[in-house]
Amino acid sequence: MAVDVRPDPQAIGENPLIEGLERLPVPATTLTIFGATGDLAHRKLLPALYNLAHEGALPERFNLIGVSRREMPDDEFREVMRAAIEKYSRRETDPTVLEGLLGRVRYVGFDFADVESYAKLRAVIEALDEEGGGKLNRAFYLSTAPEFFPVIVKALREAELNYDPDVDVRCIIEKPFGTDLESALELQRVVEHVFREQQVYRIDHYLGKETVQNVMAFRFANFMFEPVWNRNYIENIQITAAEDIGIGTRAGYYDQAGALRDLVQNHMLQLLTLVCMEPPASFEADKVRDEKVKVLQSITPPTAEEVRQCTVRAQYLAGTEGGEDVGGYLEEEGVPDDSRTETYAALKLEVHNWRWAGVPIYLRTGKRLTRKVTEIAVQLKPVPHLAFQSHGSVGVKPNQLVLTMQPNEGVSLSLGAKIPGSSMRIRPVNMEFLYGSAFMSQSPEAYERLILDAMRGEATLFTRNDEVIAQWSIIDPILQAWAADDEPLHTYESGTGGPAAADELIAPHRWRGL
Ligand code: BG6
Repeated sequence: MAVDVRPDPQAIGENPLIEGLERLPVPATTLTIFGATGDLAHRKLLPALYNLAHEGALPERFNLIGVSRREMPDDEFREVMRAAIEKYSRRETDPTVLEGLLGRVRYVGFDFADVESYAKLRAVIEALDEEGGGKLNRAFYLSTAPEFFPVIVKALREAELNYDPDVDVRCIIEKPFGTDLESALELQRVVEHVFREQQVYRIDHYLGKETVQNVMAFRFANFMFEPVWNRNYIENIQITAAEDIGIGTRAGYYDQAGALRDLVQNHMLQLLTLVCMEPPASFEADKVRDEKVKVLQSITPPTAEEVRQCTVRAQYLAGTEGGEDVGGYLEEEGVPDDSRTETYAALKLEVHNWRWAGVPIYLRTGKRLTRKVTEIAVQLKPVPHLAFQSHGSVGVKPNQLVLTMQPNEGVSLSLGAKIPGSSMRIRPVNMEFLYGSAFMSQSPEAYERLILDAMRGEATLFTRNDEVIAQWSIIDPILQAWAADDEPLHTYESGTGGPAAADELIAPHRWRGL
């Protein structure tokens, strides 16, 4: 008998968050997670599923199949899942909801490269279909190490699990989609041989963040900003994704990736496209993604000479993290002594179109910086003539609009205001909107939204094939120049704002303080 994992309607009535999620119809689905015992599943995917169950957002007929290399009985995986949810769920677990969800869980262990073993997976999927009284949609979530993405995709085809005439079959692919342009194209070739593009959902979890989506709401639901949103009024744009933490235990992955691949190619370029895109005709997935791709294609990939002038890379040295003394990147466990991997990257880019020509767009990201903050700061030009000079006005600054993704999510606009008193002295003040206080609710985690959207076949918040290729086309020349070691690798002390070279990159402008 199918267990209804939805909470009782009365509980729903008390939950303000339910508004957005609960009403969306989600078709009956069997979700298979490859890499179900991995770190991402543990910290994000399984807790996200619990929170969806808690909100009544999962379909009534829903099953989860965990797949990883290790063999274990269903019950053992359920315990793994319970522990992950209890540790990482954003809300306290409700035993009824949790047991209901765990009751819908199965586990299959096999080597991803062993094509024969996919028959075991198929058997479980078909048994669940039978139990549920009919075929369910199928979603395969690839949350493994990236080298297994093509392996699994090909095997799904061999096992004829990539298509079913009666139900929708979808494939959700985690980042990174390739490690450079060539490997992304290669992966794309494998994927498109097996799935139609409409079946593929490439994850960039930043797109699942409420505040990232708010960039579009802010721009396209408010008329007042559109007239100034261009080269005539905007002096520069700064996009920051700073983190205070180091690489932790991820040396194996991070030392191969570096900041450029880890954050710039995906999350930061996504933020850039959302700020710079033209208003789409509708919020249909392809209409939005068409506009985003146009922005990326308007960024000319830098030449080797431009890489030298427009990029800065750096690595953290010893310093502090959260008040504690910490060692440098080269002292991290698993990092080779001579590693040249960057933990900080700053770029100056330009979108070559009528709206943005001549407006520098600065991106910076790094580990072990002063604090965690993700924001987009839009710096307007100064007023053409300052009439207050004779009154000794010292604090007049051009307006700045800051969209903060995290923490203290919100929007802030700096304005010049008169200081009370008999003289006409001006100083900057902030007009603020804060998510927390305006909506009095906790935003869902990015993965909650993305898992739900993928099951609904709603692709707006996923990266399309041409988008990911356009991203790599911009990043590839930088990777090549950095790999050739033509560029200096700067350093910065842990717990500080980054290397001094980044200040030179942005001059005559200045980075916002971290
Ligand atoms: C991931 C990167 O994609 O994003 C991590 O691999 C990074 O290195 C993380 O820490 C940041 O995500 P968030 O949601 O914490 O800003």
